[in-house]
Amino acid sequence: QEKRYDISNRLNLIDQKTLDLFKRAGALAESLGYNLYIVGGFVRDLLLSQTNLDLDLVVEGDGIEFARRLNKELRGELDIYHEFGTAVLTLEDGLKLDIATTRVEYYSGIASLPEVELGCIQQDLFRRDFSINALAIQLNGHSFGQLVDYFNGREDLERGIIRLLHNFSLYDDPTRIFRGLRFASRYGFKFEPRTKELIKQAVNLDVIEKLSSNRLFTKLQLGLQDKYPIKFINLLKEENILIYISKDIIWDEDKEELATKVAEVLEWLKTLNLSFKFDEWVLYLMVLIWGMNHKQVKEFNQKFNLNKNLSYRLFFTLELDNLISNLKGTQDNSEIYYLLEGCAIEDLLLLLIKDFTLKDKVKLYLEELRWIDIKVSGEDIIEFGYKPGPFFQDALKAVKKAKLDGKIENHKEEQDYLRNYIEKRGE
Ligand code: CTP
Repeated sequence: QEKRYDISNRLNLIDQKTLDLFKRAGALAESLGYNLYIVGGFVRDLLLSQTNLDLDLVVEGDGIEFARRLNKELRGELDIYHEFGTAVLTLEDGLKLDIATTRVEYYSGIASLPEVELGCIQQDLFRRDFSINALAIQLNGHSFGQLVDYFNGREDLERGIIRLLHNFSLYDDPTRIFRGLRFASRYGFKFEPRTKELIKQAVNLDVIEKLSSNRLFTKLQLGLQDKYPIKFINLLKEENILIYISKDIIWDEDKEELATKVAEVLEWLKTLNLSFKFDEWVLYLMVLIWGMNHKQVKEFNQKFNLNKNLSYRLFFTLELDNLISNLKGTQDNSEIYYLLEGCAIEDLLLLLIKDFTLKDKVKLYLEELRWIDIKVSGEDIIEFGYKPGPFFQDALKAVKKAKLDGKIENHKEEQDYLRNYIEKRGE
């Protein structure tokens, strides 16, 4: 049953540039005799007063023709995907529009790609996952700014309910299970009872096994990158999905407690005013994996074909406890340096997530120790009259250690220390 609401007032809340774009696109559609809608996440988030820069337009008419005509006016860059009947228009300022023709989808098997046929807006909305994502706002003619709602999406949004549109939805596309959990955690929404039942059934029937490990990992990653990763993991556990990611993952109160420290440690890092490039979601993944043994971590890395850097981060979890106890047992700058030298920033953060009392040592390392370098080199030793040999390295390392520990400071002191060291050793 179709419901329409005038929400043009709300549309006025979006930025002028996007609004102008909608009006222009709407006018073009009208002149071509097409109905034009914006759909999906943008509409959902607009109604929740949140911004979403994903602009998904659908056209009742010829979507590709519409995209071509729109691009003529806007002079952006147009990529056309004939086999899907879709186009992506990228404007000069980077704004991106996904444009599609309204369509119906038929799935011929679990998790297979859908067969697509043209359809009307109602069918296009019905092929989607949840009622809250099946809302459209019309952008053409007199209907500009009308919310089109066939499946009570608006009410579900207001009540905080996630409702699947059809019974086979999760068999058609098991990734929707992860989407559902992501929306539930992001917005604090609840599953409507029937939807909860459908998720349970689908999971029990192993639909997640149908996903390639690559896709499965991407869905996990999306959840860990979302607003509330801990809630997302809790939901994975509640719905018995964690075991599909790995049967070796332990997620209990202690782990959850550990994960809550991630935010704290990230706040602390900000106060240092250093800039690092890293992905926060990796910290949650490390916490998730922490506790696995070497064989299990290795299997995990292999199963998901993780890249070198990510694999190393996960292997690091195996060393964490040792590193912490060594770090606790020393006050020497040089020892702190040599313990932390090989760590990536994610490793150091995980270390603090596990034991925040070590923050001063990590801070010292990040702010000072890791920059300390010596000016003397093998050349100096040769100048002292020695032939190159393996002791060169030991001698230079001794200088660096002395410098780290603050025993020497400048070039001259380095040279003296070096000469002294070599003479004492009687090389
Ligand atoms: N969609 C769907 N089933 C999927 C993926 C997407 O039905 N497996 C539909 C939903 O209507 C969704 C729209 O396609 O709103 C756009 O998908 P996408 O941009 O991937 O997601 P968003 O809903 O915008 O979510 P997010 O905020 O996480 O990007």
